[in-house]
Amino acid sequence: MTADLSPIDRAKFVAAKRAVEYVEDGMRVGLGTGSTAAWMVKCLGELVRDEGLKFTGVATSKRTAELAQQVGVPIVTLDEARWLDLTIDGADEYDHNLHLIKGGGGALLQEKIVATASDQMIVIADISKQVEALGAFPLPVEILKFGWQTTKALVEETLVSLDVLGQTTSLRMNRDEPYITDEGNYILDLHLRRIGNPRQLSLVLNQIPGVVENGLFIDICDIVIIGNGDGSVEVR
Ligand code: 5RP
Repeated sequence: MTADLSPIDRAKFVAAKRAVEYVEDGMRVGLGTGSTAAWMVKCLGELVRDEGLKFTGVATSKRTAELAQQVGVPIVTLDEARWLDLTIDGADEYDHNLHLIKGGGGALLQEKIVATASDQMIVIADISKQVEALGAFPLPVEILKFGWQTTKALVEETLVSLDVLGQTTSLRMNRDEPYITDEGNYILDLHLRRIGNPRQLSLVLNQIPGVVENGLFIDICDIVIIGNGDGSVEVR
């Protein structure tokens, strides 16, 4: 599985490989979305096949559910699992408080629900995701289609009132059409450069009618496993 990996893929792979060591027989495990999380799902598939690991997964997107099925990872719905022991997911950014920006892959809503329903969340990442302050990566905000332009205007007004730097917003596109999430919603990407108070911003954004959820994960992540291109791993 690892022959001829580029340094970035090796970094993602070794982080994923270390994270699956936390999965034990009988656990209910949230399975994240994205290229790093895909390595984790493949590693779990290997453990099921080669070592007979017995656990159930809850996928955070259709993409992840499909991959899990392909590699033989058993999947149930979150309603069937109810509560999870552990979620392993990637991130777009993490800071020294282990606050995150997620949703670059468009799955932030299910990811946040699943991670919040877990006793523990482990983020797997390469070192490029580590930041001093969140916000260089555009903050994804999932919004309802209904009245989306009004919601966008309200979000922009809110950013001005909070004096957040940057303050441009864009509707995420998929070629010429708006990007549609697994839940049938749109995503606004907020280009903010630096988020001074992520906790406040998260709370205020979620007060706006039309906003379903935002990509700030505050006090949700417990551990970050950082993979490096040389194959080494650090745990924070
Ligand atoms: C998807 C996510 C991903 O975890 C995040 O975008 C990181 O992805 P990748 O591992 O491909 O860099 O939040 O919604």
